[in-house]
Amino acid sequence: MYSVAIIGFGGMGKWHYRAITKQIEGLEVTGVYDIREEACEEARFYSLHVYESATDVFADLSIDIVIIATPNDSHKDLILRGLAADKHVVCEKPVVLNSADLLEIMEAEKNSKGLFTIHQNRRWDKDFRTVKSILDSNSIGRPYFIESRVNGSSVFLHGWRDYKINGGGMLFDWGVHLIDQGLLLIGEKVTSVTAHVFNVHAQEVDDNVKLLLGFESGLSVLLEIATNCFIPMPRWHLSGANGTAIIENWECEGKIVQLADDKALKWENDIVYTAAGPTRTMAPRPVNTTLEKALPQIKDALGDEYHHYSSANIFYNNLLEAISGKKSLYVTSSEALRVMQIIELAFQSAAENRGMTCSI
Ligand SMILES: NC(=O)c1ccc[n+]([C@@H]2O[C@H](COP(=O)([O-])OP(=O)(O)OC[C@H]3O[C@@H](n4cnc5c(N)ncnc54)[C@H](O)[C@@H]3O)[C@@H](O)[C@H]2O)c1
Repeated sequence: MYSVAIIGFGGMGKWHYRAITKQIEGLEVTGVYDIREEACEEARFYSLHVYESATDVFADLSIDIVIIATPNDSHKDLILRGLAADKHVVCEKPVVLNSADLLEIMEAEKNSKGLFTIHQNRRWDKDFRTVKSILDSNSIGRPYFIESRVNGSSVFLHGWRDYKINGGGMLFDWGVHLIDQGLLLIGEKVTSVTAHVFNVHAQEVDDNVKLLLGFESGLSVLLEIATNCFIPMPRWHLSGANGTAIIENWECEGKIVQLADDKALKWENDIVYTAAGPTRTMAPRPVNTTLEKALPQIKDALGDEYHHYSSANIFYNNLLEAISGKKSLYVTSSEALRVMQIIELAFQSAAENRGMTCSI
């Protein structure tokens, strides 16, 4: 049994506590450190040991794994101290706020007996796994454009997310997840980054982002994050040479429409009179030349219906296997480095109002 301490017992710290306690054999959360008394009170309520300082956590020889779930600006220092104490360190995303800091951490990783991983849990979201399954099964033919959106309407950013000094803003928040997913889907180098980064209501940080990633083969991925969108667009829209797929929401409502057969690629169309006047190119296709299919039914890693803690099974079981040397870590700092480099280019692209070429 490995003992776990959590630093930062807010929204996500408690998620880790519940997920591990509910379902991860081989891990036990024993202690918490938080700067807020209310959070410490809650930890005591769960019979957890409450540390006086982060130093005390790292000095505790009974602790094997430290989970860092504090605001983004505090991650770097805590990761470095955790690795220096030879703890296994799990840090929430975004790992840090720039690639230079991450490179420093990667150096520290080499000198530590502890492993280091980042909680990129959205790699195991149902909607993302559905997209992966559609692309892997070639259901829409060769993909050429992928759109991935999270369209919220909260308008305001909660707490520290509203402040630059804390590493707030949506690129560091949701951007990290969407970019990570995009890189996993395409498995090619990113060759261009073009971003529009807005602060529509937030004073200091980005609250709306449109980010276009160009990949080596010419395929592009459009990522959008909105916090003031009152008519949401679909979570995913996938364009392939022989079909289209839409995934409306996290519940994975949607469909695949594909060409009925090879002959359907070309059909004899005549000018059609639509409400917008005559058109041949945009004429509606005869229904019998396409097939409508249901989305693949995706279960979680244990073969169960998805629930709030599904991703924790695969994430923490992988950590346990990596600690015992049976597997390598699923989420590595070199993957996070690519995400970080893309975020840096996105900010630069927006500031200079131009697309950036790269090889990431
Ligand atoms: N992976 C995900 O899906 C996901 C979702 C939400 C948040 N997060 C990440 O989790 C982290 C925490 O976000 P949150 O939403 O839980 O924030 P939160 O504000 O709910 O919780 C943060 C907690 O950290 C405590 N804290 C602040 N500074 C500290 C310090 N120096 N030492 C110890 N405790 C400190 C606060 O008192 C608070 O209890 C962020 O990095 C965020 O990006 C990840």
